[in-house]
Amino acid sequence: MNLHGANDEQSLYFTAPKPDRAYVTAELTSIIDFIRYGASRFSAAGLTFGHSHDNPIDEATHLVLASLHLPPDIPPAYGVGKLTAEERVRVLGLIERRINERLPVAYLVGETWFAGLKFKSDRRALVPRSPVAELIESGFTPWLDGRHVEHALDLCTGSGCIGIAMAEYYPHWHVDIVDISDDALSLARENVAFQHVGDRVDVVRSDLFAGLKGRQYDLIVSNPPYVTEDEYAALPGEYSHEPKLGLTSGDDGLDICLRILDEAADHLSEDGLLIVEVGESEHALNALLPEVPFVWIEFKVGPMGVFALERRDLIEHAGVIRAAAGARRSR
Ligand SMILES: C[S@@+](CC[C@H](N)C(=O)[O-])C[C@H]1O[C@@H](n2cnc3c(N)ncnc32)[C@H](O)[C@@H]1O
Repeated sequence: MNLHGANDEQSLYFTAPKPDRAYVTAELTSIIDFIRYGASRFSAAGLTFGHSHDNPIDEATHLVLASLHLPPDIPPAYGVGKLTAEERVRVLGLIERRINERLPVAYLVGETWFAGLKFKSDRRALVPRSPVAELIESGFTPWLDGRHVEHALDLCTGSGCIGIAMAEYYPHWHVDIVDISDDALSLARENVAFQHVGDRVDVVRSDLFAGLKGRQYDLIVSNPPYVTEDEYAALPGEYSHEPKLGLTSGDDGLDICLRILDEAADHLSEDGLLIVEVGESEHALNALLPEVPFVWIEFKVGPMGVFALERRDLIEHAGVIRAAAGARRSR
């Protein structure tokens, strides 16, 4: 076997030499060969998963199938299908970039899946991965039970995934999708066109609610930035490819969330509901505003740091919320 010298891969058992490209592309022939090989290399390299998948096999499957322009639900019989020489070199190159550059697979292949829908994905916005997908797919039960939704807002939309998925699942809703980043909004617009929901989705550039004067919603959903500066400094390399504007939000991760809490009531209809993802910052939020009755939503895998709050609770606790939001505005 023709092998290069040492490389930077880590393994629990040995430091594997980098395999020779020509040798590998001659040995591996089928789709399943490349998925298996990619998964082995990803494991040996100690990659971090979590942008789209939580394990090396799903990650390699996404990379191989998407780069061959195949759907993720391809029948298993196609696994033995052979790759052409050009495809082998291309797929191997992507596997190596995933390892060497720590690029998320969604950015490498330019697409990912959210709530069962395909989205374009690149460095202009975070890779879609919010647990809110589960709420959209399950009809927001029980959170919307008995409520009439006509107008919905996806605040901090990034790639547009949450708002576009809402428009797909609930075709009678009108959805505004909002972000402050021109880069994110250009990708979101491409996804609106890609999913053919332009007739019921408005793309708005706004610093949170500043550009939404006079607009009211029955449902506001937001996955804002909520990573603390300390957490950001410790994130694995995969996250360095995503825009920092989409990740960090002050020392405790709550700067943007507090502004949303402070301003949301003015943009919610009387029976309106606010749903916000804050991840690990849940604990800091509970500690900061212990009197506010956040309802922390249980997902199939357990709690994920996503709360629901009624407009009437926002109004009842407006004083403490304003004080907390104002304290950091004046910092
Ligand atoms: C965590 S990302 C979420 C993207 C998308 N909702 C998702 O789930 O993948 C947060 C987004 O908030 C946007 N953002 C940050 N500050 C903002 C602000 N003041 N007003 C509006 N959007 C903001 C960022 O540009 C980024 O796209």
